[in-house]
Amino acid sequence: METKQTVLITGATSGIGKELALLFAKEQYKLVIVARNQEKLESTADELKQIGSPQVTPISCDLSVAGNAQQLYDQVKQKGIQIGILVNDAGAGEHGFFKETRLEEELAIIQLNVASLVHLTKLYLQEMVERNEGKILQLASIAAYQPTPLLAVYAATKAFVLSFTDALINELKDTNVTMTALIPGPTDTEFFVRAHAENVKATDNVDDPAVVAKVGFEALMSGKPHAVAPGMTSQIVMSSLMSNQQVAAMARKQMEEKPVVSEDDKKN
Ligand SMILES: NC(=O)c1ccc[n+]([C@@H]2O[C@H](COP(=O)([O-])OP(=O)(O)OC[C@H]3O[C@@H](n4cnc5c(N)ncnc54)[C@H](OP(=O)(O)O)[C@@H]3O)[C@@H](O)[C@H]2O)c1
Repeated sequence: METKQTVLITGATSGIGKELALLFAKEQYKLVIVARNQEKLESTADELKQIGSPQVTPISCDLSVAGNAQQLYDQVKQKGIQIGILVNDAGAGEHGFFKETRLEEELAIIQLNVASLVHLTKLYLQEMVERNEGKILQLASIAAYQPTPLLAVYAATKAFVLSFTDALINELKDTNVTMTALIPGPTDTEFFVRAHAENVKATDNVDDPAVVAKVGFEALMSGKPHAVAPGMTSQIVMSSLMSNQQVAAMARKQMEEKPVVSEDDKKN
């Protein structure tokens, strides 16, 4: 029987990352799963083994801290594990007007969404190119196409991820290494609560993370450059036809809080 490669997934304990881990486990891939919460890592590892992964290595690592991506890479190396597929899923946002949000939180988000993603991509891409095989999935977002007021730093990190990914796809074109950008729209995960944005209008219409993960998995495995979540293609086309300020005005509406409905209003 063919031995499957090991897949490293950051952010594998929740949302889209967890659904991706479940898909790989069902196909009997070995996994290295990364997140901060140790208990969740262990329960996720048990679940992944139960559904078919022959080996799951949980590693607790805070990728919002500079230097930790290198430590993660070194730890995986020390365990003698070779990574055939890298999924850079871990990411976070912080909702609010930039003049009011916490700088420390936003610098940590840039470290997580951008610097750690670049760091892990650098180290694993070099190995993959040397072996002339491998696959990398990068979590972008519809926000990559839309300057987003009230989520300005987050959207800018995702624009970085998409631009970075598209440039590398071109650099890799004469190799057997492929890279794919997954572009979800609003998805039903812990993201909005963690970003203090659980009441924004965008949460009215969210995708199932299992559906989004499947779109990403299929595109990754077939080496496609982009995996766009259902319904998002029209938004991308629309954004490309508008000025950045028109797009920002549209995106802002989605990031505004929903009106609070009082008990009296509900009765009427
Ligand atoms: N949900 C959406 O609407 C949406 C839309 C477009 C793109 N995306 C992108 O999809 C990716 C996954 O998001 P999700 O919605 O599935 O989020 P989620 O449900 O909040 O899951 C985030 C995962 O990342 C881990 N994580 C968070 N901070 C981390 C850190 N500092 N170091 C290491 N791991 C960390 C979390 O575990 P711990 O907390 O234990 O570390 C968890 O496993 C993100 O890149 C996000 O930007 C999401």
